[in-house]
Amino acid sequence: MRTAREERMAAARLPQANVVSILYEQHAQLRDQFGIVPDLHGEYRRAAFDMLREMLARHEAAEEVVLRPVTGKLLPAALIRARNDEEKAAARELAELEKLDVDDPGFAPRLRILEEQVQMHFVHEEAEEFPAVLGELSEHEQEELGRWMLRAIELAPSHPHPTLTGSPVGQAVLGPFASLCDWARDLLHRARQDMQDH
Ligand SMILES: [Fe+2]
Ligand SMILES: [Fe+2]
Repeated sequence: MRTAREERMAAARLPQANVVSILYEQHAQLRDQFGIVPDLHGEYRRAAFDMLREMLARHEAAEEVVLRPVTGKLLPAALIRARNDEEKAAARELAELEKLDVDDPGFAPRLRILEEQVQMHFVHEEAEEFPAVLGELSEHEQEELGRWMLRAIELAPSHPHPTLTGSPVGQAVLGPFASLCDWARDLLHRARQDMQDH
């Protein structure tokens, strides 16, 4: 899919609780949010960008802990590595962007770079991982995964966790976005374990 409209149409063809339907809808929402930020200025642009950062952090963290362990069993390791690398590249670009004032002349061009990276990432996920899930998992498993995805999105943090302040990896190398993802990943792994134990 190349547009939010196409993604919403693909989502609508699946049961609402299906994980792929949920992910298509999230991709569509992220595309929309990328479109909104550059049209705004000042505090409105900052608020829209913060929302985009939160949405992207939650989406990618949730995919890493819910989707990737499943597709990692269905697809070649190189593909999975490539998706993870794309997510890291997007995180690095977001970290660069976060250093800029939202009204800095360099902000919009850098945001465009991030948008292009994220769009290509979506295209790959939709072309490789989504069909694998739809083709290889039972409908029940797809809905179960959808339930996990919603739980993961809900648990993922919207702000950097205080205990990560000063963390050499999170803060210094990749910036606040990486800290968000690191913390979410840890939290979600534990939540997943908890739910499996009950
Ligand atoms: Fe992703
Ligand atoms: Fe995605």
